[in-house]
Amino acid sequence: MKKVLITGGSEGLGLALAECYAKEGYHIILCARDRLKLEEAKHFLQNHHLCKVDTISIDLGVKDGPENLFQTVGSVDVLVNNAGIGSNGASWKTSLDKENALVEINVVAMMDLCKLYLKDMTERKEGVILNISSTGAFQPGPYIAAYYASKSFVESYTRAIAMEAKEYHVSVFCACPGPLDTDFYHKHDGKKPKNAMSVEHCAEYIYSHMHKKVLIIPGFINRVLYYLPKGFKMRFVYRMKKKALKEKKDAAD
Ligand SMILES: NC(=O)c1ccc[n+]([C@@H]2O[C@H](COP(=O)([O-])OP(=O)(O)OC[C@H]3O[C@@H](n4cnc5c(N)ncnc54)[C@H](OP(=O)(O)O)[C@@H]3O)[C@@H](O)[C@H]2O)c1
Repeated sequence: MKKVLITGGSEGLGLALAECYAKEGYHIILCARDRLKLEEAKHFLQNHHLCKVDTISIDLGVKDGPENLFQTVGSVDVLVNNAGIGSNGASWKTSLDKENALVEINVVAMMDLCKLYLKDMTERKEGVILNISSTGAFQPGPYIAAYYASKSFVESYTRAIAMEAKEYHVSVFCACPGPLDTDFYHKHDGKKPKNAMSVEHCAEYIYSHMHKKVLIIPGFINRVLYYLPKGFKMRFVYRMKKKALKEKKDAAD
């Protein structure tokens, strides 16, 4: 039975991607911190699909988190680096601890897991890695600077390692979703846009477009956005985020 390891698989996009693999009968391993949510996700998948599900509670934001995950799980056919956190606000006002954690989870843990699994997969000459970036990777993000920069790292790093891994028969992909209908915004001081895409739709698009191009961008408008000049997109983000922050401040006053 083929194995897929999904970080941040207890909810949101990670759980929706897990469902795509569950439909194909994969042995699914979900990783996140909250044990209760992991158990709920496991029961959801097993109630709806004929699949084996294991869960691992690990904090990927602490030193040795990725190494412990690799040692516990061992080889897999597919690694999905999906766990991620956000941060919104003026860069001198956002919490330093939170933004350090953001870099640890979105960047360092993603890179550590890629290195650990690429070594294993290139030796075996098979395997797939899917890293979740964001349309935020396409330009700098005023008032969401650390998050967009972290996702830009994910995109650049993933595209580079995809080229290195290809001759070893290991396929590496980078998905860049736009806004998604999850609790992400609520958790990270953001405001969910009205046009947020459902995670089911996004996951199915990503799943069905793997093995075509390295860069996968769900949503027609997001694909158009990719080609627009960075300066134009950055000014748009600046105005949008500034307006959202002002609305939030007015509501709090
Ligand atoms: N939501 C959006 O609009 C959007 C758009 C583009 C890209 N993305 C990206 O898509 C991915 C999933 O987003 P989402 O909206 O589905 O997020 P979500 O609903 O907030 O889920 C995040 C998942 O990551 C896990 N996680 C967070 N911190 C962790 C840690 N330190 N160690 C291990 N697991 C951790 C969470 O579980 P625990 O909290 O229990 O650990 C949860 O399972 C992220 O990489 C995000 O940046 C999201």
